Amino acid sequence: MKDLWTEKYRPTELDDVLGQEEVIRRLKVYIHEGSMPHLLFSGPPGVGKTTTALALASEIYGDNTDANFVELTKSGERGINAIRGKVKDEARSRTLTEKNFKIIYMDEADDLSEEAQAAFRRTMENFSENVRFILSCSSSSKIIDPIQSRCASFRFRPLSKELIKKWIKDIESNEDFEIDENGVNVLIRVSKGDLRRLTNLLQVAYTIDKDVTEEVVKTAFVKTKTADIKGMILKAQKGKFGDVREELYALLIEEGYPAKEVLKMIKEEIYNLPFSNNKRKEIISEIGKVDFDLARGSKPQIHLQKLLAFFATLRDE
Ligand SMILES: Nc1ncnc2c1ncn2[C@@H]1O[C@H](COP(=O)(O)OP(=O)(O)O)[C@@H](O)[C@H]1O
Ligand SMILES: [Mg+2]
Repeated sequence: MKDLWTEKYRPTELDDVLGQEEVIRRLKVYIHEGSMPHLLFSGPPGVGKTTTALALASEIYGDNTDANFVELTKSGERGINAIRGKVKDEARSRTLTEKNFKIIYMDEADDLSEEAQAAFRRTMENFSENVRFILSCSSSSKIIDPIQSRCASFRFRPLSKELIKKWIKDIESNEDFEIDENGVNVLIRVSKGDLRRLTNLLQVAYTIDKDVTEEVVKTAFVKTKTADIKGMILKAQKGKFGDVREELYALLIEEGYPAKEVLKMIKEEIYNLPFSNNKRKEIISEIGKVDFDLARGSKPQIHLQKLLAFFATLRDE
């Protein structure tokens, strides 16, 4: 997937990770000593947690990294039985290097229920001979104490504006586009310190126009939002309300995106989805009601959630 800039420009060495000096300095001690405990990485999205884990692994294992670094992502199997099974399999198959442990990286560990975490903790105890875990989370307060106390804790900081600018300039000097100062500023503002989001947005902007101005970034932003909203509608139709609720929360509360805008985009998307004219009329009428509720000002998330839930009743078409 090297055509994705987030992969193409992801540093492969610890020394090239931006910011996070304190984290890197402490991790190098493990490399020097040839051993490490379980690790807990905490910090906001897109500030280098996965990148650092990968770079650490490649400094430990060199050419054998692929065989010794396993990533459990949110979309993958993360039921506790699946985790146990996978951990057991990995622990049983010996590593190919002189290191006697493998690394299992678990993204978004704070999403695991307390019950799953408790089971996970036992797994950690049973397999710590052959496996080191690196758990990643947004805030370590959602990780149960017995896990925290078994891990060395590393806090990842938001990146400074200067470092983010340097990141953008590095990509600009490698690709055939130019971005002006206003473009850079909007890009930084809307991506809120998340370098993954920023880089994806920059790549979308670049596909729109090689002369990346503020306008182009804004157009790219709307385009990516539209894709998010389409995704939400599809999930709602499949009855995945937990996901929809989380995404709406992220959009409205964390990103501060206006509910009115979200509603407008939902309305536009209706015409891109295969609804019959009758269904479309029903939806438009629901949208009208939500529009009215939003105008009265209370609890935008609840109203939008209700609207999306309405899509589930239309799914057999
Ligand atoms: N500190 C950083 N230094 C270099 N690149 C970074 C840094 N933080 C994020 N990135 C870039 O942003 C993208 C996502 O980074 P990642 O490490 O996956 O973030 P997360 O903290 O969410 O795990 C990658 O392309 C990565 O290169
Ligand atoms: Mg990550």
